[in-house]
Amino acid sequence: MYPSTRPPRPGHSHDVLVVGGGIIGLVTAWRAAQRGLRTAVADPAPGRGAARVAAGMLAPVTELQYGEQTLLEFNLASARRYPSFAAELAEATGADIGYRECGTLAVALDADDRAQLRELHAFQGSLGLSAQWLSGRECRRLEPMLSPAVRGGLRVDGDHQTDPRRLAAALLRAAELAGVVLHRAEAARIEVAGDRAVGAVLSDGTFVAAGRTVLAAGSWSGTVAGVPEHVLPPVRPVKGQVLRLRMPPGATPFLSRTVRAVVRGGHVYLVPRENGELVIGATSEELGWDTTVTAGGVYELLRDAHELVPGVTELALTETIAGLRPGSPDNAPVLGPTELPGLLLATGHHRNGVLLTPVTGDVMAEVLTTGELPDAARPFSPRRFAGPSSSASATTTARSEVSSA
Ligand code: GLY
Repeated sequence: MYPSTRPPRPGHSHDVLVVGGGIIGLVTAWRAAQRGLRTAVADPAPGRGAARVAAGMLAPVTELQYGEQTLLEFNLASARRYPSFAAELAEATGADIGYRECGTLAVALDADDRAQLRELHAFQGSLGLSAQWLSGRECRRLEPMLSPAVRGGLRVDGDHQTDPRRLAAALLRAAELAGVVLHRAEAARIEVAGDRAVGAVLSDGTFVAAGRTVLAAGSWSGTVAGVPEHVLPPVRPVKGQVLRLRMPPGATPFLSRTVRAVVRGGHVYLVPRENGELVIGATSEELGWDTTVTAGGVYELLRDAHELVPGVTELALTETIAGLRPGSPDNAPVLGPTELPGLLLATGHHRNGVLLTPVTGDVMAEVLTTGELPDAARPFSPRRFAGPSSSASATTTARSEVSSA
């Protein structure tokens, strides 16, 4: 870490400096540069981060939670942007981000799961969301590899997927092509002069000056030095362990859509890619900064996935990996200006980082250009956490949170 007593070396000056080069930081930088802002990103390894681990489900309907209707609207708005977003990235970079309109099947293995899924179906219906109830036999007709134990399921044809690793690579390329400057170093601290953020000092001692600084450092956004305590976002790391397997090539796909369930209270999902990769995720663990892949985590994922699709144990296991979701107190992102002039946030996306990437880029570009958060993003302002009087949350907690699928 850069010692705060050493004076920073003068370096570069930009309209916008984005601290963090994960998908959220990169989409913010790309969109800002497209609007004519001189933009830079500070990150020792841009294009990596939590997206390297994520499965890439775009699942606003099957991941619906009670009490999160406001977030649902935002999630749906972003899901609607995906086709044109993927096309625009392909046009800009030549890269395919693996956007696939495959749909999702959420299944139940026992009577309790089925009752819970029925309740979710009713809730989805009350919100006008499209989902179709299927018997166990109908589920297996769609996905023949499903276990005979599957008792029923919800077919959601609008919940799709993309490949987050390809997405990150494409965003990095798009940002570079749009003129974004990459500072491949950690931001050691945000620099504050008078009452405003004026850029960041990098780990090599360089000072990068910027009119606006956007903190988009995922789970680390709440730990960056130089920012007054009350301005730091209340994000915490939520560990997720994920497996990658290889499906056999052939005319009949092993799985043709995302299959998911809640097994013993934990989410398990299987996301099949067109290139033969099968991603199985994910644990959800409140263990601080730990990213160890544990025998227990791998065991539980394989055990639960095997209950849904017994054939998974025949597949080659190609990767085990763990990452950190940036969780916020209400599970919703934290977007826009803070109480420190010149400092904005784009973090706290928790389970929805990949899904919310398109809308986050648009919202952040808008606020960086006009100074105003678009209406759709106002519930996600950092100011909802500022001070004892602002208890308004992005979510309307009408009932206790119940897992959806
Ligand atoms: N959205 C899936 C996960 O966070 O595991």
